[in-house]
Amino acid sequence: MLLIKNGTLVTAEKTFDADILIDGEKIHSVGQDLAPGDAEVIDASGKLIMPGGIDPHVHLDLPMFDTVSSDDHYTGHKAAAFGGTTTVMDFVPQADEGPLRPAIDEWHEKADDKAAIDFGFHMNITRFDEAIAEEIPTLLDLGIPTLKVFTAYNGRLRLQDHEIFRVFQIAREHGMLTMLHAENGDVIDVLKAQALADGNTEPIWHARTRPGWGAVESVLRACALAAQADAPLYIVHMNTAGGAEMLKYARRQGVQVMGETCPQYLFFTEEHMQREDGAKWICSPPMRSAEDNAALWQALTNDEMHVVGTDHCPFFFDGTQTIDYEGQPIAIPGKELGAEDFTKIPNGLPGVGDRMPIMWTYGVGEGRITPNQFVAYTSTNAAKIFGLYPQKGALQAGSDADIVIWDPDRKLTYGVEHSHHRADYNLYDGWELTGFPDKVFLRGEMIVNGEEWLGHRGMGKFLKRRPGAEVF
Ligand code: URP
Ligand code: ZN
Ligand code: ZN
Repeated sequence: MLLIKNGTLVTAEKTFDADILIDGEKIHSVGQDLAPGDAEVIDASGKLIMPGGIDPHVHLDLPMFDTVSSDDHYTGHKAAAFGGTTTVMDFVPQADEGPLRPAIDEWHEKADDKAAIDFGFHMNITRFDEAIAEEIPTLLDLGIPTLKVFTAYNGRLRLQDHEIFRVFQIAREHGMLTMLHAENGDVIDVLKAQALADGNTEPIWHARTRPGWGAVESVLRACALAAQADAPLYIVHMNTAGGAEMLKYARRQGVQVMGETCPQYLFFTEEHMQREDGAKWICSPPMRSAEDNAALWQALTNDEMHVVGTDHCPFFFDGTQTIDYEGQPIAIPGKELGAEDFTKIPNGLPGVGDRMPIMWTYGVGEGRITPNQFVAYTSTNAAKIFGLYPQKGALQAGSDADIVIWDPDRKLTYGVEHSHHRADYNLYDGWELTGFPDKVFLRGEMIVNGEEWLGHRGMGKFLKRRPGAEVF
């Protein structure tokens, strides 16, 4: 048994002083002055105790263009843990032909032996026909009750509206939840072709060829399709003020739609892509303006957004140069692939380890969200929406003992060495932080102790998640 004494517990609902007793992998009890004789005791005086973070949006070992995202299911999990996250959910790409199942098996082969924290899968539905329609409900037996569809990436990932509508109908019938990437693929293709024909190849053209209106319009379109199918919907990586407005509008009409934003959309703008190293900020959808940042913060303040994920999908900035990773030199082709053409820059950026420390200092520390909202956005809401609550996302008797002991007073200048991503840059390099994870437990086992990594490959478990998402 392990007893964490004298800490202040912060949950999505309340903040209170209590001890936590852990028995094996589970929380045994939460209460005042717990004193079992034989327990190992950790004194958490002056510290906060929170449920381990849940990031429902990461892309590990994901093939893209002529490379692969540079964190795999070990390195990405380790980085997550250092940032206080103990559960991640990753997306299985659908194969170009045939059924869904082999792609899921392949993803398990990649992930299961490497996993260092607990993890789940969402299934991308990027090619739809009657065989796929029949197969989708069988994913429930595999513990995958969530699907992702796209209104962008024509000819690669995009479904047509009638196909998205069918996915919504199937999801509704079986208690599944559809997640949606909202951009306008048709407009993007026209603008990209025009930009290249005009010789516009710099990173900023990534943003200029993916206008914010595409996100606004397709958020509303998706809400309208979900409403007509009477199905729940979760919009991923929301990046615009207009999209947040559409979410609010649809929710007022009773549409069962929830929104996720990511730290990059709260802090960065198109201007970052105009820098010499602008490729570092390339992800889809792109970052927009300071007004968009402010509106997304306001949505979090007002409980009008539901989850802060990361869309962690890192690529080296210069994949021709090695970095040291656990004592080994490693280089993986990255953003330099698009040095001559922005359309060849792999889309995505690191973030899974940054999310909680950055949101604490710049969200809670700056008074934009409360500590309880912080826990809701980084853990509990995702547990509820994605079929894991109260096993995950809670500090309750019977919950998995996924716990972060948070030092609210630790000050540091953040950088690539703290985040532990397998990448050669960090977007928050040099940012001043107050508050950082001190100790992180996965199912009762300490996996991070300050700067020390105690976890290992294979200790993370695949989470078979339940259907019937809670809709906020
Ligand atoms: O640029 C990004 N976000 N890459 C990952 C794929 C996606 O659409 O989420
Ligand atoms: Zn996406
Ligand atoms: Zn993504």
